[in-house]
Amino acid sequence: MLESLNPQPQDKILALISMYRDDPRPVKIDLGVGVYKDPTGLTPVMRAVKAAEKKLWEIETTKTYTGLAGEPAYNAAMVGLILGADEADRAASVATPGGTGAIRQALELIKLAAPQAKVWMSNPTWPNHPSIVKYLNMPAATYRYFDVESSMVDVEGMLADLATVAAGDVVLLHGCCHNPTGANLTAADWDRVIAVLKDRGAVPLVDLAYQGFGDGLDADAEATRKVAAAFDEVLIAASCSKNFGIYRERTGILIALSSPDRKAVVQGNLAFLNRQNYSFPPDHGARLVTMILEDAALTADWKAELEEVRQNMLGLRKQLADELRKATNSDRFDFVSGHRGMFSRLGLTEAQVETLRKDHAIYMVGDSRINIAGLNAQTVPVLAKAIAQVIG
Ligand code: LMR
Repeated sequence: MLESLNPQPQDKILALISMYRDDPRPVKIDLGVGVYKDPTGLTPVMRAVKAAEKKLWEIETTKTYTGLAGEPAYNAAMVGLILGADEADRAASVATPGGTGAIRQALELIKLAAPQAKVWMSNPTWPNHPSIVKYLNMPAATYRYFDVESSMVDVEGMLADLATVAAGDVVLLHGCCHNPTGANLTAADWDRVIAVLKDRGAVPLVDLAYQGFGDGLDADAEATRKVAAAFDEVLIAASCSKNFGIYRERTGILIALSSPDRKAVVQGNLAFLNRQNYSFPPDHGARLVTMILEDAALTADWKAELEEVRQNMLGLRKQLADELRKATNSDRFDFVSGHRGMFSRLGLTEAQVETLRKDHAIYMVGDSRINIAGLNAQTVPVLAKAIAQVIG
């Protein structure tokens, strides 16, 4: 049986991890996978997470199964964090293994409810989106998103493409901090997108993996909240990997908004899908998140540290834009300081990206996406000079 398997293409983002690790050069810069690093290059365990872990070790008396949909307290805390209190009466939800698990379960739910629905994704998007959609054999389409000339969102192109969406189709939107481009819709753009999607009768699926990494915890949830308020049915796939820094704990949530009288059936279907795929979701990370969000002092400390993380990335953006201006003697890369989140797509060619890797030991995704948090005050000028050289 297994001899019939074909080799799978390597995931382009994950492949960079081992390439970087295996590079023997002493000075190298990793701007690949989206993991936050502090100025010393460490991906820290956040203070509030450490404190919650310590407390959990003391008070935890059992490792028996949690709820099939996760602990209700986690789901309630996350619905509150993402949507505020208003939507609880129509929010069904399941804890998932990370944000990827939430996306996967969202797509499975769509398949169960409307197998013919097409899933529309931004061009470009996080490569795992189309990969999972394809793996599940779901109809797919793309909408324009990124304007290569300006490195901003191609709002008119996006709206024109979304105006062709069929009723019942699903449109996958990045709630904030677009991955891979770093270019985001303004509040006014979101209003226009919502109006078009409502007009078409589309179902929004919001991927919210970077809440707190862009303009702030609430500001980054603003678009998702607007979408939630505007539509009868919305799916939201959220991750705690980045904003709680608990990547390996695999902590995410899928929220499905419908009407209060549909909620129980939707909830039952979400729990069913958990059971089919892995039974009970991981609990450790979810429990830490719950403990933090239910304790005012831990919440305050977590928010303060998350804000430091965000400010650090904003500072690096500004520094990089300034250094690139100096090194290239142009404003070509000014957009970097206006982008938000972990990533910016720099607009370099694949060949230039390869030269950066080969000649300068600088690692970024082939589409020239960089992880801003992979930089520090010392490496920013190094990157700027190397880019100036390769674009010559
Ligand atoms: C990324 O885009 O780098 C992150 O979301 C990590 C991943 O799983 O790809």
